[in-house]
Amino acid sequence: MIARLLSIVAAAAVCVPVHSAEVPFPTGYRSWTHVKSMVIEPGHALYDSFGGIHHLYANAKAMDGYRTGRFRDGSVIIFDLLEANAADNAVSEGKRKVVGVMHRDARKYAATGGWGFEGFAEGDPKRRAVGTNAETACFGCHAPQKDSSYVFSSWRE
Ligand code: HEC
Repeated sequence: MIARLLSIVAAAAVCVPVHSAEVPFPTGYRSWTHVKSMVIEPGHALYDSFGGIHHLYANAKAMDGYRTGRFRDGSVIIFDLLEANAADNAVSEGKRKVVGVMHRDARKYAATGGWGFEGFAEGDPKRRAVGTNAETACFGCHAPQKDSSYVFSSWRE
């Protein structure tokens, strides 16, 4: 019986493509719901990694998650980080630095709280900045937010 179970598990493992855990590029995210924005200026502890202006976007499932506190599989939240250029008493968006992604799939990304984390350098779908380092590069800092499904931000009407 155990041998049979093991062979079923092995067969299932073989069926999963190697790249199944790769976080997909969030095509069309600029048309999703804008959740909030924030400017991180020189002197802030996270300036080196996240300096600039970022906008958060959520797809429809993630919006349900913000409202109910429960993010279903398929929820996707984007951290769109751009340079912030201060001049003439105004701050304007500059070049895109990275498109950060949290993609909900409780089973696929079980090791990182059920969220797949990825960063696309300059928003280029081919330039993955995180890859297999999600646990150290991203999840470690999001982990203390366990009570809010590892999500820092919240929705305001
Ligand atoms: C040092 C801590 C830290 C690290 C490391 C970190 N984040 Fe975050 N992340 C935050 C904070 C704080 C926010 C909330 C920002 C806001 O409210 O505008 C956030 C927000 C987000 C959001 C929007 C959803 C939410 O939680 O509010 C996404 C998507 C995201 N991060 C992706 C990533 C990815 C991808 C990585 C790895 C490349 C990463 N983060 C690494 C601190 C971190």
